[in-house]
Amino acid sequence: MKNALSLPFASDHCFIGGVWREGALSDRLPLLDPSTAQPLCEIARGSTADIDAAVAAAKVAHEGPWGRSTALERGRVLAKLGQLILEHTEQLARLEACDVGKPLTQARADALALARYLEFYAGAADKIHGETLPYLDGYTVYTLREPHGVTGHIIPWNYPMQIIGRSVGAALTMGNTCVLKPAEQACLTALMFAELARQAGLPDGVLNVVPGLGEEAGAALAAHPQINHISFTGSVSVGAKIQAGAAPNIVPVTLELGGKSPQLIFDDADIDAAIPFLINAGIQNAGQTCSASSRLLVQRGVYVQVVEKLSARYSALRVGPALEDFDVGPLISQAQQALVESFIAQASDLAAPVRGAITDHASNNGFYFAPALYTDVPAGHILAQQEIFGPVQVVIPFDDEQQAVDIANGTDFGLVASVWSAHGGRQMRLAKALKAGQIFINNYGAGGGVELPFGGIGKSGHGREKGFEALYGFSTLKTVAAHHG
Ligand code: NAI
Ligand code: MG
Repeated sequence: MKNALSLPFASDHCFIGGVWREGALSDRLPLLDPSTAQPLCEIARGSTADIDAAVAAAKVAHEGPWGRSTALERGRVLAKLGQLILEHTEQLARLEACDVGKPLTQARADALALARYLEFYAGAADKIHGETLPYLDGYTVYTLREPHGVTGHIIPWNYPMQIIGRSVGAALTMGNTCVLKPAEQACLTALMFAELARQAGLPDGVLNVVPGLGEEAGAALAAHPQINHISFTGSVSVGAKIQAGAAPNIVPVTLELGGKSPQLIFDDADIDAAIPFLINAGIQNAGQTCSASSRLLVQRGVYVQVVEKLSARYSALRVGPALEDFDVGPLISQAQQALVESFIAQASDLAAPVRGAITDHASNNGFYFAPALYTDVPAGHILAQQEIFGPVQVVIPFDDEQQAVDIANGTDFGLVASVWSAHGGRQMRLAKALKAGQIFINNYGAGGGVELPFGGIGKSGHGREKGFEALYGFSTLKTVAAHHG
């Protein structure tokens, strides 16, 4: 199908070895615009043969100049790529809005975040180093940080640009080469990223992109014997499959699997400062965010006040097409819409939720869902335990600090948590007591800072991305002990 998006690359091709080429199968997959359910274009249905070709190209590139490049050289290419992304922010944002159904302002923020990751990692490339270690007389001992080699990146559809920035960006910085398998629901910005990387002068084969289905291209990549590291963001069940697929090859796996992240609002909190964070963290990208805050734990003394303020904001929320930039866009797919609806169907024992409204700008065919706020929800309820991945938040009352901690820690997940309180001692106590990879105090998400290590515990996954920490994950440490007498 000829696409109407006027893309500077062939959207139904793979990017392998520095060139755009057709997949080994002639099969294609349709990409839909979630705002209208209309086809946007077709993408390649990448196969095992395409993954083999991409991994082979990445291996050659790693054994070639990229594997021997200096940190300074890598930093310069990444800086150039970051600059190109900045110059294409608007085009990238529009592609993402059409592909993901993400409201334009949020898509612009993602494009800027991608540029920011490349700036950060470009600057970090020549500032990460090994150490010298004190040892026995007559020895000099030091460590070298070396790339793993060929890294596989299996990413979801919810934040393609941000996830490419944090995973591919960090992997390239350390001298790895990459094979990227974007999600079948949304991959235009991943393909555009490859084109911009080509234009920035990234050598052939250093970055390869193979779109396709998870069970086909994704599974082939995860289990590929020539892959030296796998990073995955997505569902818990697929995370387990990826880890199992990689296990026979004994390669490190980074898993980022979402969560049920709580915000704890105490009686002494600045409620008006908290309210926008409480809501935005639940409705951003229509709640399809790994670090979405889907549980709001509110102390009894301010419970009525907080619920009133949340309800007033919720009933003013407007849902509509991504390009028209409403508060909330559509969900990614009909399947996701059905999944979120199925959770609502299991909440008939709860008081009716306060809902936002779907505007008449929204096409009847789009995958829309009106945000829903449930109050007085028992901490063990399915809505308070499982990741919904839609704009649904539950409010849970609590009496004291210990009860709040028990509820907050009472799910299988542990990605992010936040504490709203003016009490310094409580802030410090809870930062230790809460089980999560990131804790925020009197904010949520800290603006998404690329500098801040991110990742989960429990079913939220393992390994850390973002910041310098990611550079340790995307490299391996060699210890050199020289005996010189
Ligand atoms: P998913 O986990 O199936 O898809 C994520 C990526 O994994 C995609 O690129 C997909 O093609 C790939 N994949 C799927 N099956 C695979 C397999 N067997 N081997 C290798 N790769 C495979 O997620 P999906 O189906 O899009 O969403 C389902 C649920 O997962 C959501 O409702 C949400 O709860 C969770 N999710 C969490 C995300 C996060 O940011 N942590 C992102 C996307 C989904
Ligand atoms: Mg799936």
